[in-house]
Amino acid sequence: MSELRFEHVSLQYGSLRAVDDVSLTVPSGQVVGLVGESGSGKSSLAATAVGLVPPTSGQVLVDGADIQRMRPRERGLQMVFQDPYSSLDPRMSIGESIAEAMPRGTGKRAEVARLLELVNLDPSRAGSLPARLSGGQRQRVALARALAGRPKVIIADEITSALDVSVQGAVLNLVRDLQRQLGLSMLFISHNLAVVRYVSDRIAVMKDGKLVEEGTAEQVLESPQHSYTRELLAAAPSRHTSLWEDAS
Ligand SMILES: Nc1ncnc2c1ncn2[C@@H]1O[C@H](COP(=O)(O)OP(=O)(O)OP(=O)(O)O)[C@@H](O)[C@H]1O
Ligand SMILES: [Mg+2]
Repeated sequence: MSELRFEHVSLQYGSLRAVDDVSLTVPSGQVVGLVGESGSGKSSLAATAVGLVPPTSGQVLVDGADIQRMRPRERGLQMVFQDPYSSLDPRMSIGESIAEAMPRGTGKRAEVARLLELVNLDPSRAGSLPARLSGGQRQRVALARALAGRPKVIIADEITSALDVSVQGAVLNLVRDLQRQLGLSMLFISHNLAVVRYVSDRIAVMKDGKLVEEGTAEQVLESPQHSYTRELLAAAPSRHTSLWEDAS
């Protein structure tokens, strides 16, 4: 896995500056949680990294190389989205969806089984259509599909927001396990600070398109510097009452 770096990235939609001079690094092998209220520009920042929109100014770098100069396949970035229902083709089996994302020449059947096991799904489910799976299981498939592309960095945008709280825990634990096993570099986006702090090594806080705070999870949670971070902390459930501690 590798480093993702935003350098002075801005993104303008007409007169709206959705992202305003953001510099942020996702170090190799770490999960950076990006938190902020709805409309603060989190998804817009992610969009500049995966090439959905070019930044109006600034650069996005993977291991020091500007992604604008690379073809999409070379960038090594995979994105997982909020809605596990629309992110998988309903007519394809989950195994086919995962295989489709693999580089050419991969031994597909064995690799599909390996990836399904990695996300704690029984490989015998490879032939199932997404409609036969729960929301949480679909989100596991979406993660397996992202991993199938052998990415350097994964960007996960609100991947638990559409799930029941009970299922969220299992997906968050999976993210933590994958991070430990594979040393994933990940930008993990959520409006929910309780979710972000469960998985993140570092935490970045966005407000009105700007990054207002960034540091280790401990620094940001224990001694927030910005009043907006303190508001988010006050609104989130106490760190002593984890919603997900026993989920698996
Ligand atoms: N394609 C677009 N065209 C114009 N404006 C946009 C577009 N996408 C987003 N915006 C605006 O940019 C701002 C930032 O939106 P963005 O989706 O990045 O926020 P967010 O932090 O991801 O919010 P949420 O938590 O609701 O997902 C918002 O004011 C939004 O209305
Ligand atoms: Mg968003």
